[in-house]
Amino acid sequence: MANTILVGAQWGDEGKGKIIDYLTDEADIVVRSQGGNNAGHTIVHGKEKFVLHLIPSGILRRGKTCVISNGVVVDPIALVAEIKGLRDRGVKVGGNLLLSDCAHLVMPWHRLLDEQREKHQGKNKIGTTKRGIGPAYGDKAARTGLRVGDLLDAKTFTAKFNRRLRENNAVLRSLGAKPVSAASTMRDYLAAADVLRPFITNTVVYLHEAMKQGKHLLFEGAQGTFLDLDHGTYPFVTSSNTTAGGACTGSGVPPHRMDTVMGVMKAYTTRVGEGPFVTEDNTVTSLLHSMGREFGATTGRARRCGWFDAVATRYASMVNGIDEIAITNLDGLDNVPALRVCTAYRLNGKKLDYPPTDATDWERCEPIYTDFPGWMKDTSGIREFSKLPLNARRYARALTDLTGAKLRIVSVGAGHDETIRL
Ligand code: IMO
Ligand code: MG
Repeated sequence: MANTILVGAQWGDEGKGKIIDYLTDEADIVVRSQGGNNAGHTIVHGKEKFVLHLIPSGILRRGKTCVISNGVVVDPIALVAEIKGLRDRGVKVGGNLLLSDCAHLVMPWHRLLDEQREKHQGKNKIGTTKRGIGPAYGDKAARTGLRVGDLLDAKTFTAKFNRRLRENNAVLRSLGAKPVSAASTMRDYLAAADVLRPFITNTVVYLHEAMKQGKHLLFEGAQGTFLDLDHGTYPFVTSSNTTAGGACTGSGVPPHRMDTVMGVMKAYTTRVGEGPFVTEDNTVTSLLHSMGREFGATTGRARRCGWFDAVATRYASMVNGIDEIAITNLDGLDNVPALRVCTAYRLNGKKLDYPPTDATDWERCEPIYTDFPGWMKDTSGIREFSKLPLNARRYARALTDLTGAKLRIVSVGAGHDETIRL
């Protein structure tokens, strides 16, 4: 396998974890290059279910190396808990995990500020995961952040920590929130530093050395295209570049070393949190929820659901340079007699092939649908594309034709084997 970037082509939760796990067979190194523990990537191995937040989804496989690179924001307490959780279940986490010294730290004040800002925004809230992601990236851009490398020396860390604590506690007090306790937080962070020390390294140099040895890299995107800070439904986005370019800046692997971009998209659309969602549909939402599907892996929130939005995925294909497509959750539509796909938007009487850039305009768009007959058959046991019901094949082909890339994978269940390769 060539170096592959895997991106979410919708609003996150596309089933990236499952596809990464599937593709890990052919890769040597799995890299997370943006986002933090706002991500929730679910992998099902046999009867066991794992949800990963910061650690790349390759960790369950022997002989693969996982890299948390410079573009990720790392909550060290959450990372230590994730490592422990995996070890407790017999998963090896040692020399197979590397953590960039340049990755920024999520601090307790980031989490509290995230919560406070959401509270003060009232009905204009973003609906964040409250993991402190926005404030951590904010400090990175403002050049006031602490980095993983700072954890290596207790004295440096203490000095930087105290400087940042003063300012952030003043802000927290002004918002009417309780300030962060210096002593206990410092203790927790220094304890986490001791656990993380062996993993910390210059991951840029590591990745380049690995490429010289012919190793294949798989970049595990977190979130999705329309949560991208630049290309998403701003301000209802996350604070990193979730699109393909983010894999380069977030890892130090240059664009010309990337060979393939795979876009992962659900056979329908979901979004969790606030913001525009043109194809949102209560019937689809109720149906999927009644099947026990579409509850968040990170926050447990019920996801908003709707029809497939090909206007969005067409744009995603363009902005990421998607060459290959993985459609997931096709089985989620097994019991839907009639399906709809949004092929264009209408705004102020005009037909649009691409979404507008302004979230308020986007909110006002109306979907123009093409209808497809359902297949009303259980697809979860099918392993060959040609064995899928004709209507399911037509539907999957239509989604990819409308998006403009090659269909490579169709997922019909959470398990590794519930996969159709084309
Ligand atoms: P994975 O990797 C779906 C959403 C939040 C909110 C917005 C901003 O599992 O696909 P943040 O906490 O990042 O500041 O929240 O982004 N969001 C996600 N939605 N999947 C995710 O990750 C998400 N990570 C963040 O719900 O709307
Ligand atoms: Mg998720």
